[in-house]
Amino acid sequence: MIALGCDHGGLNIKNAVIKYLEDKGIEYKDFGCFTEESVDYPEYAFKVAKSVTNGESELGILCCGTGIGISMAANKVKGIRAAVVSNEFCAEMTRRHNNANILCMGGRVSTEEEAVKYADIFINTPFEGGRHNRRVDMITAIENETYTI
Ligand code: RB5
Repeated sequence: MIALGCDHGGLNIKNAVIKYLEDKGIEYKDFGCFTEESVDYPEYAFKVAKSVTNGESELGILCCGTGIGISMAANKVKGIRAAVVSNEFCAEMTRRHNNANILCMGGRVSTEEEAVKYADIFINTPFEGGRHNRRVDMITAIENETYTI
């Protein structure tokens, strides 16, 4: 399951990603928003982040105007590694190396076609593990305030 969320600035690209998921038969849950009325992105970041950390969804996709604000909010939830992506290389590498569990994109940054491409790469790229496990574990230690130098 993929959890989806957006604000008014990311609605167009979220809808493009939904069409892609439906075409591919990939299960998703859309946490809103559903119209172009101005809304507050932290609400959708929180709902999608919780769906990922409680195990309901394997991955999340969040969209706002830039992808930045919604990523900042999502990254405040323990266990979330949300990555802002605006090119194909980063869409791939943030799964391979960072084990990112939420993809964040901007509707005022990326076209619908680009957003779908980044989502496709993100969903289909595995975490490499190995030496990257240690680094991701260090991020978790910082989050848990157990990190020591
Ligand atoms: C909303 O206008 C805009 O601030 C929001 O979509 C996002 O870009 C914030 O980071």
